[in-house]
Amino acid sequence: MSRIEALMRKMSLTEKLGQLTMTASRYATTGPIIAGDSTQAIKDGTIGNLLNMVGADHVHDMQRLAVEESRLGIPLLIGFDVVHGHRTLFPIPLGEASLFDPETWALTARESAREAAADGLAMTFAPMLDVSRDPRWGRSAEGPGEDPWLAARFAEAKVRGFQGNDLAASDALAATAKHFCAYGAVTAGRDYASVDISERTLREVHLPSFAAAVAAGVAAVMPAFTDLAGVPMTANGALLRGWLRRKLGFDGVIVSDYNAIAELIHHGIAADLAQAATLALQAGVDIDMMADAYRRGLPTALDRGWVSSMEIDAAVRRVLTLKERLGLFDDPYRRGAAPETAATLASRRQLARVVGSRAIVMLKNERGVLPLAEAPARLAVIGPLADASSEMRGPWWGAAAPEGQVTVATALREMLSESRVLHAAGVEIDGDDMSGVAAALDVCSRAEAILLCLGEAATMSGEAASRAHLGLPGRQREFAEAVFARAKLLRKPVIVILFSGRPLVVPWLADKSDAMLAAWFLGSESGYAIGDVILGRVSPSGRSPISWPRATGQVPIFFGQRPTGRPANPDDHFTSKYLDVPNEPLFSFGHGLTYGRFSYSNLRVPRDGVTERDTIAVRVDVTNDGARAAEETVFLFTHDKLASVSRPVLELRGFGKIHLKPGATGTVTLMLPAAELRFLGPDLEPVYEPGEVEILVGPCANRTQLLAGIIQLSRAPPS
Ligand code: NOJ
Repeated sequence: MSRIEALMRKMSLTEKLGQLTMTASRYATTGPIIAGDSTQAIKDGTIGNLLNMVGADHVHDMQRLAVEESRLGIPLLIGFDVVHGHRTLFPIPLGEASLFDPETWALTARESAREAAADGLAMTFAPMLDVSRDPRWGRSAEGPGEDPWLAARFAEAKVRGFQGNDLAASDALAATAKHFCAYGAVTAGRDYASVDISERTLREVHLPSFAAAVAAGVAAVMPAFTDLAGVPMTANGALLRGWLRRKLGFDGVIVSDYNAIAELIHHGIAADLAQAATLALQAGVDIDMMADAYRRGLPTALDRGWVSSMEIDAAVRRVLTLKERLGLFDDPYRRGAAPETAATLASRRQLARVVGSRAIVMLKNERGVLPLAEAPARLAVIGPLADASSEMRGPWWGAAAPEGQVTVATALREMLSESRVLHAAGVEIDGDDMSGVAAALDVCSRAEAILLCLGEAATMSGEAASRAHLGLPGRQREFAEAVFARAKLLRKPVIVILFSGRPLVVPWLADKSDAMLAAWFLGSESGYAIGDVILGRVSPSGRSPISWPRATGQVPIFFGQRPTGRPANPDDHFTSKYLDVPNEPLFSFGHGLTYGRFSYSNLRVPRDGVTERDTIAVRVDVTNDGARAAEETVFLFTHDKLASVSRPVLELRGFGKIHLKPGATGTVTLMLPAAELRFLGPDLEPVYEPGEVEILVGPCANRTQLLAGIIQLSRAPPS
């Protein structure tokens, strides 16, 4: 008999419910501590899983209680949010998505997993895979941006990175694909609000990243807090049991979000914990995180005949199976057995620096003001984010300490010299105090160039951090206007470094600055990463994975819109447009400048009929007309102009990269399996329709910058 079946026979109902319960041990990072200290409960076998604790010693202490002091000795599953790093922080996911580089996405997840596993952990509540087209939603920071195809590539890479080749390895974590699903579509961008979207949008936009995670073997899935058209995801049997388990064959663990089962009462679909627990269990949720609804509610539900012991057993088996796959039964102490070496930590910091520099999106660079000459005599490094160490961490800082995160001022003092960096904060991120402005302007007068570090605080994005105004918080705009006025008199360039967990709405800033870098939150090595780019040691290569609106009223804004029957026409009043802003974003998806200057020519697409079985090669020549070597990211989009269902004006199908010296030309080849041109027909079944499809290639989703060709789809001859 298998180990799991042997245990199942011995377990009491209380012990089984313990395996379905996850609770915070001593450190709670989100939400209230509901279950309190769990020491005795672990010994009693009534708590089988923990979250939010770090440190191999702590973890092993807790594990020992379960393994050595509980009746059945079942090891604990201990999870933590390792969203963009554990102790060493990488860029926030939205920033990392800007790399358009699956190998690096996997690598940072691998390194994060190693670091977290060395801390004793076996599970992470990541990757976050919610497509976001609404920057008001603070959780846009945690995910891969606006595009479903990109989100699916991100999902595969992250699952591969966290889990590695062998889930039982001492450096592997069970990944959790979250938040299933459509959380990014919360009404008006307000966190935890209701979601109500069409079945087509659900399938085309919000499910593909989860399908990709499941195909990559993700160990766990977490339902979103939100409801979908009235059915909270924690109780959504159609999607959890129906789509995820039955259709995709997902047989891993479904872990609820924090207190989400009890919140079914607030959603208004459960009268009490017994009913909430019943709905969640029957929908397919195995582990109850922090609501204590299974332990308190399921015994009553059993008595009333609402749930069966078979349903409980099935969930327990899945949890035990995950523990077994993680190797926890064989050796519960293998994670965290050996501390990492200083060399490992140093090379991880180095990786964070490289990835940080590549995540930066250069939004503007007028007259080639960047890179700065290696030796500006004096540089004004001003603004509330110029030297704010803890802010560099971004919204999900894992176990990283507030100190030790490298700021721009710290890095430049080291990279240039102490005396050449003149620092003043000027204003606070979100305060009213303008008393520091004069000193900051004085610093500008004494410098050759001005680095103006503005933006949001780290906690202004992430969970429960929606914003209705997407400009700079506090008095930063007034401060920046004063700096621009002074710089104009002094004839000195102003380079804006913009920190944020989302695209901000700052057209005036883009207009007045000489150069502007989106630095998102770059993590532990932020300052060095930025220094490397502005001093020209690294040519920026990041591309925005999300559109930057001109006005908050344009939100939701994304490139994959459907065509309208009345395309915008400035000369025709009755067309689809705003009276006060253009339809287009300020910066498109994919936008990002480099220190090179690239032009595209000679797009080649196959001419003959393309059947569903073919993979086509799309080729384009790219030339670097600039004066510096740089890497260009080339995007492949399609548009099915005539189909049985109106198709988006652009659909992302691929990207490639090419590194070119000044004056050099190279060819980029992008492969497109034609089967990907299937779409959901009028009845939501996949169809491959013969006819013309436009192929568009270029540097971003701005149609005016794309080269276009046509391919002809035809039916495959019967085989
Ligand atoms: C709530 C968040 O929604 C989720 O993303 C996270 O994993 C849990 N808290 C646990 O911290």
